[in-house]
Amino acid sequence: MTKNKKLLAWVDEMAKLCKPDSIHWCDGSQEENDRLIKVCVDNGSFKPVPKRPNSYWVISDPKDVARVEDRTFICSEKEIDAGPTNHWMAPAEMKKIMSGLYDGCMKGRTMYVIPFSMGPLGSKISHIGVELTDSIYVVVNMRIMTRMGKAVLDVLGDNGHFVPCLHSVGMPLTDGKKDVAWPCSETKYICHFPEERAIWSYGSGYGGNALLGKKCFALRIASVLARDEGWLAEHMLILGITPPKGEKKYIAAAFPSACGKTNLAMLTPSIPGWKIETVGDDIAWMKFGDDGRLYAINPEYGFFGVAPGTSMKTNANAMLSCESNSIFTNVAYTDDGDIWWEGMTDVPPAHLIDWNGNDWTPDSGRKSSHPNSRFTAPAKQCPVIDASWEDPKGVPISAFLFGGRRESFTPLINESYDWNHGVYMGSACASETTAAAAGAVGTLRHDPFAMLPFCGYHMGDYFKHWISIGKKSSADKLPKIFFVNWFRKNEKGKFMWPGYGDNIRALKWVIERVNGTGKFVETPIGRLPAEGELDTDGLSISADDLKKLFTVDKEQGLKEVAEMREYYKKFGDRLPAELTAELDKIEERLKK
Ligand code: OXD
Ligand code: MN
Repeated sequence: MTKNKKLLAWVDEMAKLCKPDSIHWCDGSQEENDRLIKVCVDNGSFKPVPKRPNSYWVISDPKDVARVEDRTFICSEKEIDAGPTNHWMAPAEMKKIMSGLYDGCMKGRTMYVIPFSMGPLGSKISHIGVELTDSIYVVVNMRIMTRMGKAVLDVLGDNGHFVPCLHSVGMPLTDGKKDVAWPCSETKYICHFPEERAIWSYGSGYGGNALLGKKCFALRIASVLARDEGWLAEHMLILGITPPKGEKKYIAAAFPSACGKTNLAMLTPSIPGWKIETVGDDIAWMKFGDDGRLYAINPEYGFFGVAPGTSMKTNANAMLSCESNSIFTNVAYTDDGDIWWEGMTDVPPAHLIDWNGNDWTPDSGRKSSHPNSRFTAPAKQCPVIDASWEDPKGVPISAFLFGGRRESFTPLINESYDWNHGVYMGSACASETTAAAAGAVGTLRHDPFAMLPFCGYHMGDYFKHWISIGKKSSADKLPKIFFVNWFRKNEKGKFMWPGYGDNIRALKWVIERVNGTGKFVETPIGRLPAEGELDTDGLSISADDLKKLFTVDKEQGLKEVAEMREYYKKFGDRLPAELTAELDKIEERLKK
């Protein structure tokens, strides 16, 4: 299938280590996919979902249900280069441990070779990876989430570069051991070698641990490539927004988890005439064009979305995206051959098979689906997928949005004074823990740029990289930067902003600011919409709440500054002076 000597040598070397019974080079064809799925249906690990053509229901080992951040390592040569937000081990030491684990780990299994492209085939912004795996679940998910197969090898050619990604579920079938529906291991390692640009993953079959193109490559390794080559690899959705009779603009937005990123990416606007189209819902790769503007691609080919809470009311476009050709993991199965999860309908079905394979009824006192259950769906099935989502040039970005879940102080929308102030805003992304999560309610969890678990190097250097991007172009060409907060509460503890489709109102002001028409007032923390500038036509919100959404309390602001100063200490001398200067300026303005 290929004459690429480096690839052939690497596959050979890894096969000698993992000792699979056979090796299969994936061509990515429908016929290959059908054959692999048939193996899984026949062995009982996949169940067809007759209500959704070519779709399957899978349940995992109950202990292998999410990304394992405490088992995720950045193995840079020097510990300091991984920084204070990552786990680290020296590469030689890690390779020794993992080579021991990988030795013979694929016995009794097939090693699948998956050539994949992150980004449209042949785009200058795209990169190629090759994943070796012993999991068919991984192969068929990678076929939805990435462009994969023979066409990628054609682009790679004889001498092309690829990121090697080794994955094993860590359960060899030796001594007559019988396979299980979801093989995995108690021992898990998700490891990144940033200098070598390689990924080694062991012991988990689940999503972000196993589909190595996504978080491991497109964020952790790509963030290192981006730093070295002067571009951006970000945990951002990309959307196109078209005003009535106006020109389409593109926005990229970063939010910590549980802030509704997929919902915003596919938003159905509540104000007439506005249109939102989706380029991506999770990751953006951005490079400068010759015109000095940043152009973004979605490196992915599908959505790996959180299922619970998704419904025709909250995100109709996500629901319509997974009507066929999709894989559902850890949701519930209905008696009439469909899937269901909490929040999909107001009234749950009378009986289900839950994500543990047990009978479930509404009064069984437990959830039918795991809170991190997922749908894997082809992006092209999204009814509002943007016409340019596969444009190899990418789409020009006019604005960045950062956000978090903040109950007080942080206004609905706030524009930075300039690039460095915007970088400060990105570094200040944080969410308050909710009652649903363990730990004290209202505790602040910092998640700078929503990259906390995804930055492949020292976060202080990452901030520096963002500052340096601002020096590569001029203010009129760089995206404007905003901070949004849909989650502010009033003194009665009620959310003041309706969110969902009404978030278009904040985006409308963003577009007006980008076009230079939106009016603003200057506050110590940034530019807020001038009174009457936010479109509230048809919105049911009290005048009092509306005012509170934009109140900047000086005392709270000073507390916030003190809190950020404390947080910044973590980054030691790698914190860029520009960010301390921004904090000083905010403090000065608050004290005036
Ligand atoms: C994701 C995540 O799965 O951010 O996208 O955890
Ligand atoms: Mn994500």
